[in-house]
Amino acid sequence: MIETRALTPSMGVVVADGADLLDEALISQCVEALKWRGVLLVRGAHLDDERQLAFSRVLGEIVTFRGSGIFEVSLDPSVNPAAEYLKGTFHWHLDGMTDDTPIKATVLTARHVAMLGGGTEFASTYAAYENLPETDREFCENLRVVHSFEAAQRLLYPEPTEKQLAAWRTQGSHEAPLVWKRRDGRRSLVIGATADHIVGIEPADSRALLDRLLTWSTQDRFRYTHDWQIGDLVMWDNTGILHRALPYDPSSERNLHRTTIVGDEVLV
Ligand code: OGA
Ligand code: MN
Repeated sequence: MIETRALTPSMGVVVADGADLLDEALISQCVEALKWRGVLLVRGAHLDDERQLAFSRVLGEIVTFRGSGIFEVSLDPSVNPAAEYLKGTFHWHLDGMTDDTPIKATVLTARHVAMLGGGTEFASTYAAYENLPETDREFCENLRVVHSFEAAQRLLYPEPTEKQLAAWRTQGSHEAPLVWKRRDGRRSLVIGATADHIVGIEPADSRALLDRLLTWSTQDRFRYTHDWQIGDLVMWDNTGILHRALPYDPSSERNLHRTTIVGDEVLV
């Protein structure tokens, strides 16, 4: 067993330097740690794309983007043609919440870091849910939330043009329970930028509740801020770990390589 230690009291594990990330026993240990701690950090992993893909494949099936398993998180449109949409990463979110089966986990490796800013923040909605007062947990128990790409983009462009709206709406929307009850008994809140409204509640009350839950979930004690160093590998459980990029200059060379693991639990 390789040594691990807590990243913060409420979340995360750090895997000791020098671990062989392609060792299957270590990967199973990482999967188990991820389940209970939400975020896993390996400093100095320095994986190239091939090794990152090999590591990720052991975790599950990999999502492909334009034929590649590696997605470059960069705000430079010559590196990533979807750079514009990546500005959405500056708001707290879970990935893929407009799909029936949201992705299971995301792996990022740091290839270039920003000179200033550009950290990534994580917040556990498992811990946030567990620590909600009993009355709030009961109130949230059977609520349902509509998620859409449009809701996330509206945070960036509050007054969209017809053309923007039409493009966003091609992505569809998805209704999901507010509290995700997992097969293994764990529970997390499904909130963040894609959460448009709660079904059957007045719009103003719905917005107020979603905002209150997000503020609750992202308070210091449920949160970890990662300052990237080149070579870092960070992986998180996307079914209960909200995340966002901290501001950085779009012309900086910050470049993270992402692999995305297909989900195995339906959210309906
Ligand atoms: C992502 C993401 C955050 C970051 O790739 O899904 O949210 O800090 N990235 O770039
Ligand atoms: Mn993301």
